[in-house]
Formats: sequence, C-alpha cells, structure tokens
Amino acid sequence: MIGATPSVFDASLSRSDAGGIDAYVERHAPGVGYTYYGAGKVALRDGIAGLVEPGGNVLVPAYLSPAVVEPFRELGLEPRFYALEESLAPDVADLEARMDEDTVAVTSVNYFGFPQPGLERIADLTDEYDCYHVDDNAHGPISVADGRLLGTHGDLGFTTLRKLLPVPDGALLYRAGDDVAAAFEPSSLAGTADRFGAGDCRFLATSAAETALDPLYRSIESLLADDDASSVDPTARYEAAKAPMSKLSAAVADAADPDAIRDARRENFRTWARVLAGRGDLAPLYEELPTGISPYEYPVLADDPSAFLAELEDCGVAGAHTWPILRESVRGDDAYGTANRYSEAVVALPVHQGIEPADIEAVGDRLRR
Ligand SMILES: Cc1ncc(COP(=O)(O)O)c(C=O)c1O
Repeated sequence: MIGATPSVFDASLSRSDAGGIDAYVERHAPGVGYTYYGAGKVALRDGIAGLVEPGGNVLVPAYLSPAVVEPFRELGLEPRFYALEESLAPDVADLEARMDEDTVAVTSVNYFGFPQPGLERIADLTDEYDCYHVDDNAHGPISVADGRLLGTHGDLGFTTLRKLLPVPDGALLYRAGDDVAAAFEPSSLAGTADRFGAGDCRFLATSAAETALDPLYRSIESLLADDDASSVDPTARYEAAKAPMSKLSAAVADAADPDAIRDARRENFRTWARVLAGRGDLAPLYEELPTGISPYEYPVLADDPSAFLAELEDCGVAGAHTWPILRESVRGDDAYGTANRYSEAVVALPVHQGIEPADIEAVGDRLRR
C-alpha cells in the first residue's frame, strides 16, 4: 500500500542534529529574509501587501488551483491568467499581451518541484514592465536549481511545507528583493503558534487513524489539499487558511532532515520512471531529474487517466490524483489549452519519503505491460 502523504509517526527521516528547515534555507539561500506562515497564500498576501495599491493586475499561470489568486483579490488586484506551453513555460506572447501599465506582478510556478521553464523570460518581462516577480514554489520547498533555493528567484516567493512534510500546515515567505524586504510588515498571521492547538490534535488523530485503521483512508488529503475535488469555494478556503503556522508543524520542520528527505524522494521518482518506462499509454512530464531537485510527485500524461487511476487504486496506490480543478474562468477556455489538457490528463504519483522504492517496484510488477 502506498499512501498519499508521509506519516508524522515515522521518525526515520528526522534527526534533531540536522538543523531542520531553517538550516537548509540558510545554507541554500544565504542572506534571504524569510518568515513562517500557516499557508502559502497568506505568506503571499503579506509579502506583496506593502508593495501595491488596489486597482493593479497580476499575471498568474492558468494551470493553478483556484484559491491561489485569492490573496490578490483581497488586496484589490485583478488576477489575469496566462497560457502555458506544453513544457509549462509561459506562452510569452500570450503573457505579454495580457500585461499593461497597471500590471504590478507576474507569478511563476515551479510545478512539481521543478523550476518553471522560462523563468529568465519572466524576469526579463518584469524588468521591462517594472513590476514584481513572484516565485510560487508551493510544490518544492527544498528544491535547489543552479545552486539556488527555488522560491528565491523572484523579488518575493513562498513555499508550502505541507507538500513536503507530514504537517497540518506551514509555509515560508521569502523576501529576496531589497524593496520587498524594506516594505515588509508582518501581519498578525506571521510566525508560529506558541501553543499546540485543536488543529494539531485533529491532525495527529487523523494521522493515527490513517496509519492504523484503514490504509486507503484519504481524509488528511481531502482535509488539507487546495486541489481536492471536494474543495469548498476558493474564498472560504483562503479564509480558513488564515492562521500562523501551528506548533506541531514547527516541531516537525525543526526535526526534519531535508537532505535525507530529498534523496528519498529522488529515489522514488526514479523508481516510478523505471517501472513505468514500458507503458506506451503514459508519457512522463519530466524526462530528467536534475541535481538538487526534490520532486513533489511523479507526473505522467495518461491517455486514459481514469483507467490508470483505477489500476493504481487496485494496486494499493492511494495517493495518485489529477491536478487541479481549474478556476471557472480558465476551465474549458481554448486560450488555455495546456492547462485544460493537463488538469485532466496529468496523473501525479506520490514519491514522498514514507514510501520504500521496493513498494513502487512491487506495484510496477503489476503495472508493467
Ligand atoms: C502552485 C500552488 N501555489 C500555491 C498554493 C497555495 O499554498 P497553500 O495551500 O500553502 O496556501 C498551492 C496549494 O496547493 C499550489 O498548488
């Protein structure tokens, strides 16, 4: 059985002397100011709030969960979606056509823990239009590309610890640009809680149930994922995320051994690539796994996603899913071909550190054609 998330009760990749997330960030993004939050969306809101006035617009890629643009809307900014190439690089002509003198920021997204292709083109455009570059690194908290921690490529960025660790919440805001650092005023939602709360207890109880009772129990995923089919409306989801990082999350982040976690996730990514290589109905989204990348998942384009998901479930893989439910204004719009196609056809397979490569091999024996 391959679960959706690692277990908070598995201490094998925790070491109190590894320095946790703090030491890792300080090693790979020296000099970049950072602050903990409960959620990436709230980190984003606080990061950009002091830089913009209502009435501007922000460009975000169309392949995205609906709630991610809520912080912009709260600040009176209009989110505008830009189209993507099949490589997930921005369609630069489409992006530029949607920018104007009121554009205050362009967001890039490091999908699945990999740097978004074309990051340098986005940086050129934000220079040209004199606006901010937001580096959304929700998916890859410990990915490093060309010696630099993802999430710190833009003027400001953020990452989501829930995508890496068995935690109920948690995110980091990075303030890479000087003016971002100068304008930053943390709200009451910044930082970590100093006491364990009801959410921590609920998370532990659900984790225990998931571990002990029913291996296919997916309530943690559906409880926490922004992307789940049963998601409440985006505004409600955003409002619900407004809390500092929980004490439990802070403790898990402190004890984590990021290097060991990255190694484990890379090994599992490579194992999926190997066992699925012979399947003509599946095409990996990423052919290579560059040094430094800590993959969030192993995404494949499936000819028949529902059939493949059913096959995986039969083999005991609980955590595979398509992603995301697109925002209404994007869904079905031909201008956003890649986002619409990928949201239906990309199946993401779990690679988290709680999985043993041998478990993937065993599933692979049943999936090979
Ligand atoms: C690409 C992307 N950006 C941002 C977010 C928001 O992060 P958080 O749930 O920590 O607010 C998500 C969440 O799923 C995401 O997938």
